[in-house]
Amino acid sequence: MGVNNLESMELVTGATGYVGGKLVGRLLEEGRAVRALARDPSRLGAREGVQVVAGDLVSGEGLRVALEGCEVAYYLVHSMEAASSGGRTGFAGRDRRAAENFAAAACAAGVERVIYLGGITPVGGRPSPHIASRIEVEQILLESMPEATALRASILIGAGSSSFRVLVRLVERLRLLPLPAWRTNRTQPIAERDAIEFLARTPQVAATAGRSLDIAGPDVISYGAMIEQIAELMGVSRTPISLGFSLTPPASALVSAVTGQPIELVRPLMESLEHDLLPRNAGEAQEMYGLRPLSFDRAVERALAQWAAVEELAAR
Ligand SMILES: NC(=O)c1ccc[n+]([C@@H]2O[C@H](COP(=O)([O-])OP(=O)(O)OC[C@H]3O[C@@H](n4cnc5c(N)ncnc54)[C@H](OP(=O)(O)O)[C@@H]3O)[C@@H](O)[C@H]2O)c1
Repeated sequence: MGVNNLESMELVTGATGYVGGKLVGRLLEEGRAVRALARDPSRLGAREGVQVVAGDLVSGEGLRVALEGCEVAYYLVHSMEAASSGGRTGFAGRDRRAAENFAAAACAAGVERVIYLGGITPVGGRPSPHIASRIEVEQILLESMPEATALRASILIGAGSSSFRVLVRLVERLRLLPLPAWRTNRTQPIAERDAIEFLARTPQVAATAGRSLDIAGPDVISYGAMIEQIAELMGVSRTPISLGFSLTPPASALVSAVTGQPIELVRPLMESLEHDLLPRNAGEAQEMYGLRPLSFDRAVERALAQWAAVEELAAR
């Protein structure tokens, strides 16, 4: 089956996910022609101006049709999913296969402007399995397609971002906040609005072709301070308790139980907190794109307001 070719068609993979879903909305606002790839197209619903194609990056099914006639393709897929789909130990292998399938299909279709969002690499330490896998995907895409661009971000601050949701749920549900040894490690989160804007503008910024660029907000903040500041902005009083250890496996199980997020998602995220995750060149990306990212506080306020618009936050 073929699909209608439109000029400047842009493919968004991961369109049922957090980043992909937001990006589709942003591209449509600008009147751009969008094709969305989803394993289960019924989860996307009908959206005016979006062509939907069924496909799976790990099996490779649907990729040829999805990429046909595209000038740009966004790679916004990862495999941190429940054990029934292969389990935690399998995510790196699945993501490697997905990237290789995608790269081969994009090369065959002549799509050169592939845009990927991955993770910032740790300073002075071994990357966690999750971050290592994100770097491996970046390498596969950049080596296969010289015009590809990889953007790297740490935590996205947005109502639908799973890592931000874990932090908010912890603050919401625990009056005493145990802060493990990683509480002093630092990162530079980015507002959802800014991450989506960087992604949307990338095809128009020719100098980003073949580059890997870190994107970040203006504030360097420790994980402990981030949690305490979220409590402050939620207007709740929480007592932080500093622990001298991390014990990530049992702590992940506890966080998963408290927040209601699957362990397959929580554990790789918590393993990534073991080192500073600071951008190499965030100022360079801001200059290239002409973007001035929101502060951490402003990003959190916006995310909490968006969240509260659809679901009451029960914290007192
Ligand atoms: N959220 C953040 O804070 C953050 C921060 C930095 C970087 N990033 C990066 O942004 C990208 C997107 O993350 P996200 O937060 O949007 O993740 P997400 O909400 O979990 O979405 C992941 C997407 O991948 C799709 N997917 C998984 N396996 C697939 C397969 N085999 N074939 C096709 N699609 C598949 C999922 O589709 P189904 O609906 O079918 O499962 C879903 O649409 C990732 O590369 C991530 O590393 C995110």
